[in-house]
Amino acid sequence: MDVSLLAREPDLRAKAEKAGQGHLFLWWPELGIAEKERLLRQVAHIDFDLLQELVRVLVLDRTKEPLMPLEPAPVVPLPADEKGRRDRQRARQEGEALLRAGKVAPLVAAGGQGTRLGFEGPKGAFPIGPVSKACLFRILAERILAVRRRYGAAVPWYVLTSPTNDRQTRRFFQEQGWFGLPKEDVVFFQQGALPAVDLAGKILLEDKAEVAMSPDGHGGTLPALWKSGVLDDMERRGIEEISYFQVDNVLVPPLDPVFAGCHRLGGAEMSSKVVRKAYPEEKVGVFCLREGKLAVVEYSDLSPEQMHATGPDGTLRYWAGNIAVHMIRVDFVRRLQAENLRLPFHRAEKKIRCIGADGKPVVPDKPNGVKFETFIFDALPLARRSVTLEVSRKEEFSPVKNARGVDSPESAQRDLMELHASWLEDAGVSVPRKPDGSLAFRIEISPLFALDREELKARLRSGFRVDRDLYLSGS
Ligand code: UD1
Repeated sequence: MDVSLLAREPDLRAKAEKAGQGHLFLWWPELGIAEKERLLRQVAHIDFDLLQELVRVLVLDRTKEPLMPLEPAPVVPLPADEKGRRDRQRARQEGEALLRAGKVAPLVAAGGQGTRLGFEGPKGAFPIGPVSKACLFRILAERILAVRRRYGAAVPWYVLTSPTNDRQTRRFFQEQGWFGLPKEDVVFFQQGALPAVDLAGKILLEDKAEVAMSPDGHGGTLPALWKSGVLDDMERRGIEEISYFQVDNVLVPPLDPVFAGCHRLGGAEMSSKVVRKAYPEEKVGVFCLREGKLAVVEYSDLSPEQMHATGPDGTLRYWAGNIAVHMIRVDFVRRLQAENLRLPFHRAEKKIRCIGADGKPVVPDKPNGVKFETFIFDALPLARRSVTLEVSRKEEFSPVKNARGVDSPESAQRDLMELHASWLEDAGVSVPRKPDGSLAFRIEISPLFALDREELKARLRSGFRVDRDLYLSGS
């Protein structure tokens, strides 16, 4: 029994009441000692001042911010001529030198809850390999391993978790033998969490002794870096650049020399990759200039006119879709900490499982609450310089968001198989297709067999045929 914690009950209760959250203690008389401690421990961690402010601004006062006039962001387009190709080649050399020197480390944001996918467990554990059934984490780990071998760089992999999935994620990595990476080179760290509130701003309870907490958004990566000591770890290891990506993009190259090089040659503090939006309503943020500053405007914040606006050539005016891939300088993160620069919070209306006023479980079928999140891309306007690089969607972006349909496991597997089929075709292999053009067999190439199309070309023996489902594995 934690007597000192229990002794704080009147004080914590008063704090909650003062913030209009006294109902957290509604079930107090029914709780056992262990439950009382559990509740008090959580309440002790709530920053009621911050929460009150967020509720006031983002829940109660719903006057929409006026839409800001926007301009399209300057983007380095996909190479269309010899000069463009030479520039990328030069960037590749620069980036390769950085990788060889062990100055770039991958960081995956894997703290989200994956509610839309409906998968119990960390999203990275979702089996996605079209033939291998390898999970997202394994595919990423193998890409990282392949890059480490290619450049002889023992860079660590930083894995952002959240209080909701940290334990499960660590256990999963352990069970999987850290996917072949040295254990000391997989570094977990946790983002923060905030209570979710109902539409009137009252904190939701998951059960009578449990506050409904939710991760503070991928922007939480930045404070988590300095609070956890990971930033010190990076500096100790001589890491200068963070290669940031999300766990849900099955095509993402975790360490891309071209991107690292463009970012460095551009003298940037934080850079981004974009793809051309597939259609106006696509659910990706777009890169814009807002009041002259580079920013990502979320799809939900664009007016219908902005969403459909076209330029003189008839193509979308705001076309640069955010794929959530960034290069971030370690000293930029330090500067944000030192200058006390904080990211703004956004509201996200969500369906949140909780208990009702009668103590019975509520499984909502429409949004019943609000979560508060910061977004990593809100650091862009704070960066002194930034490079925004267009990349090919087919090669680099296919997210797993929903259980079915658009951006689902099915679409991600199809895109991964098509990419690998195109590598085979490039290497002169004929890939059988059905009359409708789709692949006749399932195709997958482990990053440990070939990391990219050039490597595949070099490794395949002549006369290689595809006449059944194919998995090219490596070790
Ligand atoms: C996000 C971007 C959107 C972009 C799209 C590309 C936001 C608000 N929008 O949309 O601009 O075009 O991705 O795929 O991010 N995560 C955490 N901790 C959190 C929340 C999320 O680590 O607290 C991670 C998740 O594990 C996931 C990723 O961030 O890997 C994306 O989060 P999600 O909420 O699914 O973003 P989207 O709304 O799909």
